[in-house]
Amino acid sequence: MSRRVVLAYSGGLDTSVAIRWMIEQWSVEVVALAVDVGQAEDWDQLRRRALAAGAKEVEVVDAKEVFANQFCARALLANALYEGRYPLVSALSRPVIVEALVAAARRHGADAVAHGCTGKGNDQVRFEVSARALAPDLEVLAPSRVWKMSRADAIAYAAKWNIPVTALPDKPYSIDENLWGRAIEAGILEDPWVAPPEEVFTLTQRRDLPAAELVVGFEAGLPVSIDARSVSLAEAVAEMNAFAGRFGWGRIDMVENRRVGIKSREVYEAPGALALIAAHQDLEGLCLEREQAHYKRLLEARWAEAVYDGMWHSPLREALDAFMIEANRNVTGEVRLRVEPGAGCFVVGRRSPKGLYDPGLATYGPSGDTFDQSLAEGFVRIFGQQIASWAARQGGPKLGSELSLRS
Ligand code: ARG
Repeated sequence: MSRRVVLAYSGGLDTSVAIRWMIEQWSVEVVALAVDVGQAEDWDQLRRRALAAGAKEVEVVDAKEVFANQFCARALLANALYEGRYPLVSALSRPVIVEALVAAARRHGADAVAHGCTGKGNDQVRFEVSARALAPDLEVLAPSRVWKMSRADAIAYAAKWNIPVTALPDKPYSIDENLWGRAIEAGILEDPWVAPPEEVFTLTQRRDLPAAELVVGFEAGLPVSIDARSVSLAEAVAEMNAFAGRFGWGRIDMVENRRVGIKSREVYEAPGALALIAAHQDLEGLCLEREQAHYKRLLEARWAEAVYDGMWHSPLREALDAFMIEANRNVTGEVRLRVEPGAGCFVVGRRSPKGLYDPGLATYGPSGDTFDQSLAEGFVRIFGQQIASWAARQGGPKLGSELSLRS
């Protein structure tokens, strides 16, 4: 068994219990590594908790910059939404945490890394696939996959060892949070019919405020300004969290398909990420050529699935990113976003010096028309030729009145 282990430490129940449990069961020395990816966290309390659990050392690594500018930025270029809805909050942070974990293992001369993920989720896949890609010589330990403790058992174990944790038996949510948003699972949320209680939300709160607008400026697909003030991506997300979140907008409640074949009920809130994706997607509507835009939608779904599945550190993700970056070269311009009580956050305008919208081609007005409609006749005839041949030779289509939805 390994002597020194660097554990990806979140400060939560499972990883706190994991420190003590690994020491007791495996007689290892544990270095707790916390990675700051923009979560709201009391770092002093986290340090005290890790030490109380028995960690030899606690380290906090600030990965906010690389997480925002290399991970979240790529997710935005790809408009990444797993199963069309989930902006990959947790999935995006795992590979950056593993990069920090491996670096720390080297610094501390460790022979293993560890994570607190259970055997039921996606996060174990993400940790281990990335760890093997980055450091094939390091062993990967997963204590919560073998200890056979329920959440209640883990709470009792923490109490027995005087590890101060915040998960109370009556509010046993598992929460993962970073710059890109929050993921809330477990407790009563495990019943997909039960509506999420207000108490699980922190970024989104329905309040009765007057409608408001702002303008997000993009350069090559990434936000660079809000109302003409320069912002970093991290600042843009934080401002959009506040802008859209205070109208209660940005919640997702879904049953999702995990990589390991389990359906799970997930609640998320990511107003900033969702608002930026909506704005970015809209600007692409203006700036991307039709075929490229349509093909990008297919690759976006593949990008989201690959990253969800733990394939951040893969040649597929790298190659897809090359496409996303190239496709975003001319996605430069401004998007007007509006928030309204009850209606949430939505795009109400866009403009771009690189836009492909041509008023002369589009207009139905009385003047300025540059489109020769007589050319359309031949185009439409040739476009529909295959259908005309099919209809003439093979009996043609059924009428609506002849269709049935039952097999
Ligand atoms: N289901 C999401 C995912 O697989 C979120 C997992 C978040 N983890 C948590 N401890 N709440 O990406």
